[in-house]
Amino acid sequence: MSDRVVLAYSGGLDTSVGIGWLKDATGKEVVAMAIDVGQEGEDMEDIRQRALACGAVEAVVIDARDEFANDYIVPAIKANGLYQKRYPLVSALSRPIIAKYLAQTAKELGADSIAHGCTGMGNDQVRFEAAVAALAPDLLCIAPIRDLALTRDKALEYAAKHNLPIAQSKKSPYSVDQNVWGRAVETGFLEDPWNAPIEDIYTYTADPSVPREATEITITFTQGVPTAIDGKAVTPLQAVVLLNKLAGAQGVGRIDMVEDRLVGIKSREVYESPAGITLINAHEELENLTIERDLARYKRRVEAEWAELVYDGLWFSGLKRSLDVFINDTQKYVSGEVRVKLHGGQAVITGRRSDQSLYDFDLATYDTGGTFDQSQAKGFIEIWSLPSKISARRDQATQG
Ligand code: ARG
Repeated sequence: MSDRVVLAYSGGLDTSVGIGWLKDATGKEVVAMAIDVGQEGEDMEDIRQRALACGAVEAVVIDARDEFANDYIVPAIKANGLYQKRYPLVSALSRPIIAKYLAQTAKELGADSIAHGCTGMGNDQVRFEAAVAALAPDLLCIAPIRDLALTRDKALEYAAKHNLPIAQSKKSPYSVDQNVWGRAVETGFLEDPWNAPIEDIYTYTADPSVPREATEITITFTQGVPTAIDGKAVTPLQAVVLLNKLAGAQGVGRIDMVEDRLVGIKSREVYESPAGITLINAHEELENLTIERDLARYKRRVEAEWAELVYDGLWFSGLKRSLDVFINDTQKYVSGEVRVKLHGGQAVITGRRSDQSLYDFDLATYDTGGTFDQSQAKGFIEIWSLPSKISARRDQATQG
């Protein structure tokens, strides 16, 4: 049965119309697959029924929320994963898990192809197809919007002509992608990078400029993984859901940036990731307390590399796997508590403690009784600056 294609189905206009389009263009039966990565908004069973009503021969829904948190978000926390130092990789993290289930469903249902609803202008097409290439190299990838040049007008026309059960809502001015790790908003008036975002575009975060009482929380990490909030044990998914609520209510995690896409375009992006920004801030600070200087400094370089690989769609690559081994090893002692004040759009660390802390009060104190032997500093600096001294003498001699 190789006359089947598995489509990553969101329930929206493009992928709903994509079912019929794929059938017409390829002659294949279309299996719709919808993945729950905590995007919320719509009931997954409604989405499944819509796929069938739009002509899918089968429709499967997969609840991948815990797996997404455990196997994709947790590594991102351990890696303090931020692309260009700011973007918490919201969409970049969800594509590999969706691709994994596309490949798995294709195998189970005897399909020879997968399909997705990406355009040809973004990173997501690359992420889907590069992940599928790494997991199931023989599967064919079809992108109806890109490959069959399907525009929104054509989609609306097709939906009306075939009476597809799609809400004929007014054209949303934005392109939105969301999951439990955050929300990405693009296009519309935001395409002018000088235009300020308006309150309307945000749904995960409240206006940070509204005066309100601060919220103080304590996050417990065990070897880099968030395991409790205010002393109450949580799974990674529960931690993210709870922090989205608490930090989102304080307007934490709004990001407005110009970003370098893999395909060479600079694009203006607005993100909200209340839990993401709070957890990464807290986790990084616990590392500052528990990881020795040279390892911490080296890890920051590995983190930048890790974020670029994930952004660029190389989640299932050899290099990414090896970096994960390194990052996991650094987390051995990253256990303890971080106190965070959520207020005015900021997640500010106000305290940190750990049984594995490297902070030595007796060494750090300026008070009498400190154990740091200051007399050793003089000789240390003498040797540390020796290469500078020797080369400076040479430079002066040759210039003079
Ligand atoms: N620019 C972000 C990224 O590449 C977000 C993409 C969001 N996708 C979307 N279809 N709106 O990860």
